[in-house]
Amino acid sequence: MSKELYDRAVAISQRAYAPYSNYLVGAVVQTTDGKLFEGVNVENAAYPLGVCAEKSALVKAVSEGYKPGDIAAIGITASPCGGCRQWLYEFQIGEITFLSSSGELVTHSAADLLPHTWDLPS
Ligand code: THU
Repeated sequence: MSKELYDRAVAISQRAYAPYSNYLVGAVVQTTDGKLFEGVNVENAAYPLGVCAEKSALVKAVSEGYKPGDIAAIGITASPCGGCRQWLYEFQIGEITFLSSSGELVTHSAADLLPHTWDLPS
């Protein structure tokens, strides 16, 4: 399944709005009940206001009622940035598949991608 999620992320990355970086990113989230939510990066002339593809996919899922623990997997066309790793950790995603910097398709858990993570004290 992870390869399918990645392939779908590649296909939808064409919809990214990235006129400043020209770096098109796609992300596809799969929920534990089998729904898919697609996201792309959306840039802005005020550069820091741009949104990463992972966040836009997760925002869609949350706005349809899904919460941390309800997201099984995500496929991404790029190695997730540090901020997105924190988002992936928040949603406790077990299978995160992306193309590594060496060009290999890899799958990791959010905890693997962000070790020794800061947590709110309970
Ligand atoms: N980008 C993502 O969408 N996800 C990441 O994890 C890495 C970076 C986007 C942000 C920006 O629009 C473009 O890629 C170049 O950094």
